[in-house]
Amino acid sequence: MADSPLESSRRRVGELTAEIRRHNALYYRDDRPEIGDAEYDALLRELQGLEADHPELLAADSPSQSVGAPLEGTGFATAAHRTPMLSLDNAMDADELRAFDQRIARLLERSEAFEYVAEPKLDGSGVELIYRAGKFSQGLTRGDGRVGEDVTVNLSRVPSIPKQLRRAGGQAPDFASIRGEVVLPLAAFQTLNTERQKRELEPFANPRNAAAGALRQIHDIDLPRLRSLEFRAYALAEGKPETHASQWQSLETLGEWGFLVSPESRVCQGLEEVFLFYRELLERRSALDVEIDGTVVKVNDLALQQALGTLSRAPRWAIAYKFPPEQATTRVEAIDVQVGRTGALTPVAKLEPVRVGGVRVSNATLHNQDEIHRKDIRVGDTVVIQRAGDVIPQIVRILLAARAEAEAPLEPYTLPVDCPICGGKTIRLDGEAVTRCPNLDCPAQLKTNLRHLAGRGALDIDGLGEKIVEQLVESGLVERLSDLFTLEAEGLEALERMGAKSAQNLVASLEKARDTTLPRFLIALGIPHVGTTMAEVLATEFGALEPLIAANAAEIEEIEGVGPAIAESVARFFADPSNVAEVARLRELGLRWPDPAPGEASPDGALGGQSFVLTGTLSAPRSAFKARIEAAGGKVVGSLSKKTDFLVAGDKPGGKLKKALDLDVAVLDEAALEALL
Ligand code: IVH
Repeated sequence: MADSPLESSRRRVGELTAEIRRHNALYYRDDRPEIGDAEYDALLRELQGLEADHPELLAADSPSQSVGAPLEGTGFATAAHRTPMLSLDNAMDADELRAFDQRIARLLERSEAFEYVAEPKLDGSGVELIYRAGKFSQGLTRGDGRVGEDVTVNLSRVPSIPKQLRRAGGQAPDFASIRGEVVLPLAAFQTLNTERQKRELEPFANPRNAAAGALRQIHDIDLPRLRSLEFRAYALAEGKPETHASQWQSLETLGEWGFLVSPESRVCQGLEEVFLFYRELLERRSALDVEIDGTVVKVNDLALQQALGTLSRAPRWAIAYKFPPEQATTRVEAIDVQVGRTGALTPVAKLEPVRVGGVRVSNATLHNQDEIHRKDIRVGDTVVIQRAGDVIPQIVRILLAARAEAEAPLEPYTLPVDCPICGGKTIRLDGEAVTRCPNLDCPAQLKTNLRHLAGRGALDIDGLGEKIVEQLVESGLVERLSDLFTLEAEGLEALERMGAKSAQNLVASLEKARDTTLPRFLIALGIPHVGTTMAEVLATEFGALEPLIAANAAEIEEIEGVGPAIAESVARFFADPSNVAEVARLRELGLRWPDPAPGEASPDGALGGQSFVLTGTLSAPRSAFKARIEAAGGKVVGSLSKKTDFLVAGDKPGGKLKKALDLDVAVLDEAALEALL
């Protein structure tokens, strides 16, 4: 039976919520957005539309009600914003801006034109700066709008953030909260990316990601990058002098205190002046030294702002009037395929060079096969491309009429079956959009694979850092993973900046790393989807490597907690003869581990026979935790008794939690269990 309209809306709300949350995490937490602002806005608007039509579907934690992404495990201390850092609603065209103006008039029951402040909408990373008694004391990212990450140390390196407020006449307030945007000027952005490309690092997609990433560096701080950031102030949330009555006065005060304030900002009498400002700014856009993506229009009078108030996500007294994405038309000359450091094949359209928004463009990313298929992009096509805040432009659509005029029919495009770097067969796993080269020794991936193999959770090889890996591969000493275990001190000493002592140390680390465990060895191989938990499960279930290599996907999938994508990934990996040969060579070169018998606990593990009961929802299937507990020498039992040592309680633990408390059994949450393991 078909869904009722309410049911299908409910389903769509669920899909949109999940999708928006994923993009929030990519944008705010990982600084790696997958879609442009326009596409993101379309998703958010669809969700808002459905929630407006069906208020019963509006959840308290809907992404329409908040900004940003939850802060989990970012490594920074967090702190609450005393006043939330809100987002802005968008107006995508003139009509939407008029609607904003009319809504304000209606809410305030006024018919005369409003005074607005129009400012450039800076495309960077929003931050809050706290000054106590005039001294810079704390800097926070926006985070989820309520709680941000404490990035004081990084912000204190940004030259345009005053350590001390300049006191133009008056006294500095006891407490001031200044909001603004950290941006990376375009010239610095270009230098940074050229530098990254030289070092074979992935270039940043746009100045905004580069700025956000710089702020959230936690190890190996790149000081020159922090010093090239710029802070531009646009709001005084707390600490306003009492005489203040307008946003414009706030901007002036911020300037007097020593902050950079966008010099383009202007007071506009009524909407027509705002339109004029917008058009002028749009014309100057490509000449500016920072990226902007629209105009922010704010009611100037603070008393009126107060009267209008804010909703949970954005104020009613301000709106972002966005610029249209910059577009141009050109021709696809070829489609190249790049192989990334993780083996992902990325098709790139080679374009007849064209200028878009002040930048010369000759490449456009095509993402993956599905994207090419959906847009039906063929070599020879005339296409519309756009830069939507991103330096790497996208193809919006093809011009079919132009295809009809082509001399010869254009062929649909399919990604190559063989890896363009190593010639090995490429694969595409069920449910994944990416096509990959699964070959362990593919030169495109060798450096990443070596780093992974040397990592803490894998073979944990001391002294095999990024630089050495680079040298080993570039010098030709290492052409495949197993070559690592053929290295000798003399050969290593020939490398630049490698002394006799370091060479000996590395050889000693390699010797130590030969003694490992089966799960660590499986992790070291870098099989897609096989992390710590899965490696433990596979090792425990199969007991040894040989039966795992021999198993097919169906057999692997029979294990509780192993889904079809993982099973296929593992089976494919071992179906590749070159991978099996590599595994054999690693063993010949001395890698060894004790084989645990299948399903049997190691009695002398860290958990020394203690018993566990699992309840509630955990972040991975229970079987996975069971396998890890058993691998560490513990046992997992079904029901609680006085003799149980621990209850591991996930989300919604139910009755067992109460029973454990009654029986005086120790209760662990997942983090505590991890610590124990
Ligand atoms: S005012 C409650 N002014 O845009 C007022 N924000 O999309 C919100 N932004 O979170 C901030 N330029 O990070 C304001 N001139 C400007 C801005 C600006 C850029 C950012 C800010 C905000 C985001 C909302």
